[in-house]
Amino acid sequence: METDASQNTKQANLIKEPRFDLGTLAQTSLPLEIIYQPFRGNNRTDLANLDGQEITVSFRNEVPNIPSTTYGTFGLYRYPAKFIPQVVAYAIETWGQPGQKMIDPYAGSGTTGLVARLYGVDYELWDLNPLLEVLHSIAVMPPRPVPVKNLVETVMKSTQQWLPQWINLHYWYPEPVLPLLSRVWGFYHNLEDEYTQKLLTVPLLKVTRIFSYNDPQRQKLSRSPKAIQRVDTLLNGDWQHNFAKLLYDEVLIVLQKLNEYQTLKWVNRNVQANIVCGKDSLDLVKHCEPEKNQWNMLITSPPYLQAQEYIRCSKMDLFWLGYTEAQIRDLAKQELPYKHVEPIPILSETYATYRHLINEPHLRQMYDQYFHSVLGTLTHLSEYITERMCLFVGEATVRGRSIPIDRIIAEHFVSQGWQHEVTLIDKIVARVMFRAKVNPATGIEDRRMPTENLVVLRKKN
Ligand SMILES: C[S@@+](CC[C@H](N)C(=O)[O-])C[C@H]1O[C@@H](n2cnc3c(N)ncnc32)[C@H](O)[C@@H]1O
Repeated sequence: METDASQNTKQANLIKEPRFDLGTLAQTSLPLEIIYQPFRGNNRTDLANLDGQEITVSFRNEVPNIPSTTYGTFGLYRYPAKFIPQVVAYAIETWGQPGQKMIDPYAGSGTTGLVARLYGVDYELWDLNPLLEVLHSIAVMPPRPVPVKNLVETVMKSTQQWLPQWINLHYWYPEPVLPLLSRVWGFYHNLEDEYTQKLLTVPLLKVTRIFSYNDPQRQKLSRSPKAIQRVDTLLNGDWQHNFAKLLYDEVLIVLQKLNEYQTLKWVNRNVQANIVCGKDSLDLVKHCEPEKNQWNMLITSPPYLQAQEYIRCSKMDLFWLGYTEAQIRDLAKQELPYKHVEPIPILSETYATYRHLINEPHLRQMYDQYFHSVLGTLTHLSEYITERMCLFVGEATVRGRSIPIDRIIAEHFVSQGWQHEVTLIDKIVARVMFRAKVNPATGIEDRRMPTENLVVLRKKN
């Protein structure tokens, strides 16, 4: 057994080389004036009068002011099926103006809000996943000079105790790691300084995952022999030192990302933001009122047709943040396309044609449920949108047959009186998708989502 003295000596030596110079980070001046005139709506003659045509774009090359898809806090957290920020930026530059209001009813990690903020556009974000609020509140924090070395050493020395209410905790973690996790999360949950707590959130979640038996190659929580071997190897060395070092590096990365994000802010306007999470968007839209709720633009990437299970992907992190088994189970039940919803009329011939081609009752039920829920929410919400809806969707497949979701959405809204302006088609380069190499049911290679399409609809006056 280690003595206190030997533990202290070890902890004093925990951290050696910094990866970033915090002095430089703290000195970087943030541009507060308008440095870039991004709005080009009036110049987009190339997009005028297209009347529902499809045109190919490469969103990531269209917005040179955002240096990469993971720049700043856009790369804070690996949320499944995230927007690349350039999609939202493209839509705002083309059709938005500062002072307008936009809404994303399936906001995920909050990309829409982070981009809207840069352009001085007010925003409202909704998502079932409570991670939205956590991630958003971190991503918009201004960076501060923080004594990271001292902070990490204090975390590692913590004597407070906290473990999640998770029946399977011992299945996911090796026994020797749990006392340390209990102490670092004990520190976290008892922290009164909100800034420091936020700063530690993503680093602690990431390092806690690294020391778990979860397979990092898969989005959904899954334990594999390879993952067990990885953790066993990790535990052979001075793993407490490695834990501290990883935590230290991750905190510096967050500070760097916060700094990068603030340097992107090119419109000097304080935006209004409203974040609502932990609730089904369909329930939220039912409580909207015309006098109170109105947005110029809706931009969203709805959940995918195939079972994605965002809550299951986030489960481990939600437990460590303090959510209970019962709360997580309740959230998972409300996730699309599982939740049973009232059918709505789907006004699309393409919908009917493809439905007819699906023979298996359970797949047909999933297909129906998907469109009833997503189009149900969007149809209700469309009443409160004054100008445009931009819907970013992929081509999902059912039994190897590609379903043109973009066409179904466009037809449905055209029947509701909207004008289908254009569908912008982008090839996926590096978006994190749920891709199975071979579909076990068909034996066919799964080629889901080769492109993603932004369907742009305009409200007719
Ligand atoms: C494609 S993701 C959105 C990703 C987001 N654009 C981003 O950049 O992070 C779809 C989102 O729909 C959410 N979702 C699923 N069912 C929902 C429901 N019933 N109500 C609200 N959101 C739901 C999921 O939690 C997920 O975050």
